[in-house]
Parts: sequence; C-alpha cells; structure tokens
Amino acid sequence: MRFGAAYYPEHWPVERWELDARMMREAGFNTVRMAEFAWTRLEPSQGEFDFDWLDEVVGLLGSNGVRTLMCTPTAAPPGWVVKDSPEMLPFFEDGRMVNFGGRRHYCPTQPRFRDHVERIVGAMGRHYAEDPDVIAWQIDNEFGCHQDYCYCESCQLAFQVWLQSQYESLDELNSAWGTDFWSEVFTSWDEIPAPRFTSTAHNPSLQLAWRRFYTDVWTNFYTFQADILRESGVTVPITTNLMGLYPGIDYYTHAEALDFVTWDNYPVSFPVPADNYTSALNCDLMRSVKDGAPYWVVEQQSGAPGWQSIFGRTGPGYIRLMTYLTVAHGGEGVLYFRWRSCRFGVEQYWHGILQHDGRPNWRYQEVAQVGKEFAALPADLFSARTPAQVALLFSHDQQWAHQIQPHVNGFSYLGEQLPAYQALRDAGVDVDLVNEESDLSKYRILIAPVWELIPSDMAEQVIEFVRQGGTLALTFRSAVKDWDNVIFEEPLPGPLRELLGITVDDYDAIGSQNITAGLQFSGKLPVTGNPGGTLWADVITSEGAEVAATFTDGWYVGRPAITVNHFGIGQAWYIGTHLEGEFWTPFVNYLLAQQHLPASLQRSAGVDIAHRQGERLYTFVLNMKPEAGWIEIPEMCTDLLTGERLMPGRTMLEPYGVRILA
Ligand code: GAL
Repeated sequence: MRFGAAYYPEHWPVERWELDARMMREAGFNTVRMAEFAWTRLEPSQGEFDFDWLDEVVGLLGSNGVRTLMCTPTAAPPGWVVKDSPEMLPFFEDGRMVNFGGRRHYCPTQPRFRDHVERIVGAMGRHYAEDPDVIAWQIDNEFGCHQDYCYCESCQLAFQVWLQSQYESLDELNSAWGTDFWSEVFTSWDEIPAPRFTSTAHNPSLQLAWRRFYTDVWTNFYTFQADILRESGVTVPITTNLMGLYPGIDYYTHAEALDFVTWDNYPVSFPVPADNYTSALNCDLMRSVKDGAPYWVVEQQSGAPGWQSIFGRTGPGYIRLMTYLTVAHGGEGVLYFRWRSCRFGVEQYWHGILQHDGRPNWRYQEVAQVGKEFAALPADLFSARTPAQVALLFSHDQQWAHQIQPHVNGFSYLGEQLPAYQALRDAGVDVDLVNEESDLSKYRILIAPVWELIPSDMAEQVIEFVRQGGTLALTFRSAVKDWDNVIFEEPLPGPLRELLGITVDDYDAIGSQNITAGLQFSGKLPVTGNPGGTLWADVITSEGAEVAATFTDGWYVGRPAITVNHFGIGQAWYIGTHLEGEFWTPFVNYLLAQQHLPASLQRSAGVDIAHRQGERLYTFVLNMKPEAGWIEIPEMCTDLLTGERLMPGRTMLEPYGVRILA
C-alpha cells in the first residue's frame, strides 16, 4: 500500500524539509509525489541542470521511510522554453492561442517542444534511474486538463496522417463519413480540417474521428516520454495521472500504455448525496480501464478546493471516509493533494492537509489515523480484486457520439448512466465498467444505457452473451449508428433487432417540450409508484418480445415502452424512454434476483457496500451520511478496523463511519 501526499519542496525553505519529513513519517506516510511542475528549478537554462535540491529532499524523505513517485515536469514548460520555441503554444478550436502564464501551454505534437521534452526527461531519467528511493514515475500531469485538444497546424497535419492509417483510401473515408452532404467530399487528404470554428458544425463522423485521433496523440506523447525514461535506464513502473470521468480521452485505450493506473480524485462538492455515487463511479471506471488492476489515487482531496474562490467543503470524518471509498473500489495507493496549502500562486485556496501555516491540524490528525489503520490491515486487502458479476457499458466512443449530437434538450450520457448505476450501488453489488472491446463472458448482467454505436461485428459478442444466459438491458438510442457515427439504413435497432425482438419504427423527442409520458406496467416487474418517461419515447413494435410496460400518453398510446425478449437461455431488455430511480431500483433488484445473485446486507439509506476478494472476501461498509447508520450482520465476522467481533444482528455505524468486515 502506498500512502502519502503530493509534495512541493520547492515552495518551502530548505530548513522546513526535515520537519515535513518527520511529520510525514509520524503520519504513516511511505510515498510522496514530486517535481511535476519543477522544470525551471531543474533546468534553469537550456542544458544546465540542477538536481542537487531534489536529491537532497529525495534522500531526506527516503531516510524517513518515504519514497518518491517522481514526475516528469512537462506540464509546465518554463518561460525560456516558450521564448525559444513559441510555435509550441497550443490553439483552441476558435483560433485563440494559449499564452505562457498558466500551465499546460504546449501542443503535444510540436516537434520543437518535443526536443525540449526529450532533453529534460532524458536528464531526469539518467539521474534517478538507479536511485532506490524513486519507486515509480508519473509522466506529465493530467493530459487534457484545461484544454482537451490543440487545433494547431501541426495537429491538423497529424490528423490527416492518422486518418490515412484508419481508412484504406480517401474514397473509403468519403463514403464512410457521408461527405457528400454540403459538398464536403475530400479530393485530397490535406483538405481534411481539424474541427476548428466553423459556421455551423463539422460532420459528426469527422468530430468523432478527431476525438479518437486525440486519444492516440496523448498516448503517443506519453509513450514518447516513457520510452525516453526506459532508454535512460529507468526500470520501475511508469504511469500518468488520469482524471476519472473526464471525457476527453478514451482511458481504456490510453491505459493500455501505462504500467499501472493512477488518477486524481476530487469528490469536491461533498456533502451532496449524488456525489457519493459519482465518486464511486469514478473509482469503478479507473479500476476497470486496466482490467480490474488496483490503482493509486495520486491526488486525493484533503482540504477545501478552490483557486480564486472556494467551491466545496470538507469536514472531520470526510477525508477518512473518501479514502476508504477509494480503497473499497480498488485502490492500492492513496496520496493526498497536497501536503501543505501553498501561500502563493494560483492555487492559494486549494487546501491541502496542512494549512498555509504548516502546523498539525485536524486534517493531519485524521490522515495520521488512516496511516495507522492502513498499517494494521492485511496486505492482500490492497491488491485484492473486485468480484463483479454485473457490468455497466461505459464507453468513451458512445459518450463522444452523444456529446456531438445529444438528441434532445436535457440529454447527457452521464445522465443516462447514473440512474442505472445508482440503483446498482443501492443494491450493494459490485459493478465493473466495460466498453465494446471488453470480455463479457465473466458477467451475468450487462446494463448498456444508450448504446448508440454498434456495428454488426460488435453486436455478435453481445448476442452470444445473451444466448449463453446473460441478462442484457439496453435503453433508447441503442444500436442506432455504425462505428463512423452514421445512422443505419436498416430498421432500428439495427443489428440487435432479432436479439431484442422489436422494431423501433419512430420516436418522439418529448424532452423538447418537457413532456412526461405515462407508463402502464404489465405486472411482470415489481415497479410500484407511477414512474413516467421523460426526454424520449420510442415508438416500438414487438416482434416476439414480451411487453413489460406500454405508453399511456401520446399518439403511440398502448404501444410498448419496455420489452424483454427471451433469447437463447438469456434475456434482452429494451427500455424505450428515460426513467429514474423509481423504475431503476426495482428493475435492477428484479434482474439480480432473476440471475440468483446474492442479496446485499440490509442497511440504512446512504450506506455504500463494496467487496474485494483477496485471501478472504473483504466487505467495505461506508456510511456516506453525517448521521449514524446501521447494517444487519448476517453471520459472525470481524471488523478489521477495530478488531471487534460482530454478532449477527444490527450493528451501528458512526456518522461517516467505515467498517471492513471479514
Ligand atoms: C489537479 C492538478 C493539480 C492541482 C489540483 C488542484 O487537477 O493535477 O496540479 O492543480 O488539480 O487544483
């Protein structure tokens, strides 16, 4: 288990370092992350390096048992680098250039910038390759943060070259994208634009291709640096810090290049109940993009967040709770952001563990408590895997297609994922996130809200999944388009029609007038209350599927709204409208029972349950509420945090309390 904080020794007098190292040791720290913004300190002028100060602090911390996650400092290029190579400055899509003065003011495809990167990364790599206190490397910092993509000439050219690797010919591209629309047929590769500002919008196929291209750009920039480190003799694992649900990069693809996943976890607006779900969803995604391998959080929120003004709150109990949420969903490392709040610069109000004054405070005590607890927990708990049998399809390609054309006012990809995910969390089941390339065979249930792009070859796996006994649940706007973002010519839902046993003949975008469409349930599902559909209503004909609900409003009154088709030995559900928890909670419970998945512990509202399977099954119980809660213990077990033996029956949870049962 790695435990510690992001540390910026360059912000504090040398005389302070020793006290920091001692306080860290006393808090149970064994790791810090350093140097991701220290380029000017490390290379004050071209080719003149100064590692003395960093050597001193790495050594001092090392002698206190605190090892270093070393960063390449390329996220904040110095002024002299910009002065030397002004063409490295990136452009927004509207033509605005990003100036020196903040950070991340570089274009990752610019060759002259890459020369500078090669020099500093190579020098750092050679300098620290043999240092036993450097246990891993982080490349750069949060690719895409502040600006997803650069739209300069160099990027446009790289896009044109990339497209030539994706399509056999220009004719094939023209036909796949439908460039005949508005006379956009390309007669030469160099006519293809980066999707810069234009009178209306770029072709949706081009927009989607651009986002896929830029995932490869960031991955290429990562690999460029990782290769330099390797050539310099670095043998320890290398990573870069991801941003959870950040939508700019396909993290499944990107993570293939990383030795392990690290990411930054800011559940900032706590306490807001919905945010607890979002935090867990972030964690589940970050675990899932690397096939369930444990991750490190390298920026875990500690103090209140804010730059110019503070926009979130923390309070006693919160840091510990969210740290355990991070571990419960797959973490094997937690580094807080940051060790000490900085007195100067843009992030003066982004609070760390210590206040600006550097004295031990309540946050320090809380973190030290966690350090003590971690040291006493069994080591295999932190490397244990999440035993999920339920998967949620969460795909960046789908998210991008929905971002490019969000169907109707009020629609968002996350807005369609969250009701299903919340119901699963409330049911206490572990959820893996998957995309179109994931192996589905280990799951019993796949929920795939608004699975819009699904070409025939991808449909095959999901058809087989159901045939073999899996339960699939799709919602409206599923199987509408091919992988190039072009609508199927065949009736909807395209290649999944037979599997679902329905045809979607038409649809009514009811969200455009804020209409709610009433539903009549057949009695098959245990839905009580009277949930109505919003945003969208599909006009469905059943072709063999059983009808579980019909519309009671609109010109399609009496037509199916929710269907289930029995296919092979599995079931394929289709939900033709947007529904919230009133539907999703009973629906998910019904699906779990149908698949004979074990019911979760009974508990008070707002208690999150997650499991990790190591030498034993570890059950994490997290009370997300500031009031006391409870769980029903089914059989005698131990709370690993307190050592208490817990008898069957009701056990209380403190406000924001945590128990780990085994
Ligand atoms: C992260 C970033 C950190 C710091 C933090 C708080 O996005 O990686 O460097 O800026 O936010 O603002």
